[in-house]
Amino acid sequence: MSLSGFSTRAVHAGEKRDKPEHSLTVPIFQTATYCFSGMPERLAYNAGEVDRFAYGRYGNPTQAVVEAKLAALEGGEAAVLFSSGMAAISTCLLSLISQGDHVLFVDECYWQTRLFATQLLSRMGVEASFLSRWSPEGVEAAVRENTRVIFAEVPTNPHLNVPDLGQLVEVAQGCGAKVVVDSTMATPINLRPLEFGAGLVVHSATKYLGGHNDLLAGAVVGDAQTVARVREVQAYLGGVPDPHGAYLLLRGLKTLALRVGRQNATALEVARFLEGHPRVRRVYYPGLPSHPHHHLARGQLAGFGGVVSFELAGTGEQTSRFIDALNIPRLASSFGGVESLVEQSAYTSFYKFSPQERKELGIPDCLVRLSVGIEDPEDLIADIKQALDRAFPGF
Ligand SMILES: Cc1ncc(COP(=O)(O)O)c(C=O)c1O
Repeated sequence: MSLSGFSTRAVHAGEKRDKPEHSLTVPIFQTATYCFSGMPERLAYNAGEVDRFAYGRYGNPTQAVVEAKLAALEGGEAAVLFSSGMAAISTCLLSLISQGDHVLFVDECYWQTRLFATQLLSRMGVEASFLSRWSPEGVEAAVRENTRVIFAEVPTNPHLNVPDLGQLVEVAQGCGAKVVVDSTMATPINLRPLEFGAGLVVHSATKYLGGHNDLLAGAVVGDAQTVARVREVQAYLGGVPDPHGAYLLLRGLKTLALRVGRQNATALEVARFLEGHPRVRRVYYPGLPSHPHHHLARGQLAGFGGVVSFELAGTGEQTSRFIDALNIPRLASSFGGVESLVEQSAYTSFYKFSPQERKELGIPDCLVRLSVGIEDPEDLIADIKQALDRAFPGF
């Protein structure tokens, strides 16, 4: 069977053609442990002569299918699934670094990733530094002799910056570091970082990969040897997925190309509408020529994603009124699912930051992050339009 097409892989990769009891779909192996027929089989397993499942924290057949599918979608040799994106990120970084090493975080990164670095890695004698905005010169100046990992989200959140992956890989090669890309925002539909020479890809599968706002999961994808090391560390840190969650993710992955294709198209339409609206001061969307990284996005991304951030030409209060006047997008933290979600970043994702920190991070009170779902674009645009009218009456 040819699995060259992306959707064909999303549906079939990693799955045996003949499944237990002639089932079409992959069963949920809802078990914590696995039985051995007797001591001879157990001893053969101990000696590495038998490849099979032994205990839930070391793997599960439903989970294994998702891992094989994700590896096929990202173009990696192997993948390991986690209970959440943060479990994937923390376990991945802990697998790669030791005391005395340096990790460089490039451009914006998820605030919990940042806290993991500043609150935990620092206590373990690992240096972490943050280059607040990517630039080729900035990265060159920020790497050190002991840099082991260059970590970047592509695109970033919420400003949708698109660091140049080729440049990051080149700099990393120069100092013997690995590039780890948090590709949550892009998904393998829009970007496959391993093709650019990245060492590992991490995902919050909670977002687009699951796609239905009904599960938490994470993943690390890359070469077999490094992924095996990450899996070993996962076994003692314990951030393993639940079999039922793994099944939900498997089901979500089958429609990934359809969903993300639609979200790419709708978000571009919404971004264009917003850019033309007099009550919108600025739109951040890498598909628009006005985005500072538009040229990089065109070179790296097959699609520009389903998240659009924008600043309203008004106060924080007017922005809150706009959010509350929306009928379709729900006020909730997350992105990437079939339901459109919206947040006023200063009071949601960044509410724990001081006004000064928010200023430095470029998060004004009027910044809105909209995650476009799979609703009809004309309904979403009409809803945004009426909410703008209600937030700015008499305009
Ligand atoms: C880019 C990015 N990476 C990682 C995470 C963490 O993922 P999870 O919530 O699945 O732990 C998030 C969560 O919002 C995210 O936005």
